[in-house]
Amino acid sequence: MSNDRTAELARAIDTLRDRRAVLRGAAVAGLAGVSVPLLAACGGGDDASSTPSSGGTTSAPTSAPTSAPSSAASSSSTPSSGGGGAVLGPVSDVPVGGGKIYDKIVVTQPAAGEFKAFTAVCTHAGCIVRTVENGTINCPCHGSKFSATDGSVQGGPAPAPLAAVQVTVSGGNILGPA
Ligand code: FES
Repeated sequence: MSNDRTAELARAIDTLRDRRAVLRGAAVAGLAGVSVPLLAACGGGDDASSTPSSGGTTSAPTSAPTSAPSSAASSSSTPSSGGGGAVLGPVSDVPVGGGKIYDKIVVTQPAAGEFKAFTAVCTHAGCIVRTVENGTINCPCHGSKFSATDGSVQGGPAPAPLAAVQVTVSGGNILGPA
């Protein structure tokens, strides 16, 4: 009887050893299985972080308006050479001595028939300028003022002038950049 019991115990011990081996293998396999996705996730995270983000809303002002030619604003007295872009609006929108804001472009008319255009995105923190009065283009956010003639800073915290934007006048309309 004791021999039977000894044999039974030996079999039980063997069985336990086998189970341990199986469990160890499973654990290693499990760890390996888990580590792969983690590594993949890290790799994906790195990829995601290296992908340039759109920068949210703050990047939009720096793209379109500032990518326009930075040469002096065009004058309307030059007929369109056919390179104009979309119609911003009729010339009559822009009062002499004032201006009109079209989305991210501000068009001014410092003197009759003399049109200037600049980005409407304030160089301080990216707000869109709101008014053109008394010779200045005015930002509502922190009070920056820019010359309606050349976009230079006339007051407030803005660190740089408004960049000129190329517009043309054709058929009584103001055309945006091509
Ligand atoms: Fe225009 Fe600050 S964003 S003054």
